[in-house]
Amino acid sequence: MKHLVAPSLLASDFGQLNREVEMINKSIGDWLHFDVMDGRFVPNISFGFPILKAVKAVSTKPIDVHLMIEHPEQYVTAFREAGADVISVHAEACPHLHRVIQMISESGARAGVALNPHTPISSVAHVLENVDLVCLMSVNPGFGGQKFIYETLLKIKELKHIINERNLGCLIEVDGGVGMQNAERILQAGADVLVAGSSVFKAEDPLEAIKDLKELGSDTVLA
Ligand code: DX5
Ligand code: ZN
Repeated sequence: MKHLVAPSLLASDFGQLNREVEMINKSIGDWLHFDVMDGRFVPNISFGFPILKAVKAVSTKPIDVHLMIEHPEQYVTAFREAGADVISVHAEACPHLHRVIQMISESGARAGVALNPHTPISSVAHVLENVDLVCLMSVNPGFGGQKFIYETLLKIKELKHIINERNLGCLIEVDGGVGMQNAERILQAGADVLVAGSSVFKAEDPLEAIKDLKELGSDTVLA
């Protein structure tokens, strides 16, 4: 399987949400990345259930919900019911991470865990068997349009090594500051899913920007 591309709706024009979702439908992108922020876990507020439901009604792509919120366990079921296909929670927000991951899997969604740039890979070492995806933040979460933190490349390699060594099936997603200037290196380091907000929606031709990211590194294959 080739790497996946997940355009992040956060960078889209909210006044034209239907049109933006339809653009993603038409694209060769794989998932629609949906960033939920609560103004507590991160210093910004984005969108929640009503918008997710509206997006789900139009989207033909799986919806990859990235919860940047405190107490995500309180909302897992509601996000699943609103249309989430993948739900990622932050390890930093979950003292009972294992239980939250179980809740997500039981809801029928694919389970993901996200890590802030400073959080070591070792913090999720004992849940890797239980997750479908690890989202490595390559910016400090809360805002689109930030610069990629290059130290993330080392984290991607470290995680890839563990996944290969233990023969695990979980995907590595990289989120923040991803674009054509660095995507090749991110894929070479071992990423499986590229989240791209600004580099897609601020591009002159978003469809072309998604295609460019998708067509990179054809030698990056997944088992
Ligand atoms: C940041 C979000 C990202 C964001 C990425 O907190 O989690 O998904 O939308 O946006 P860009 O690609 O612009 O960095
Ligand atoms: Zn995100």
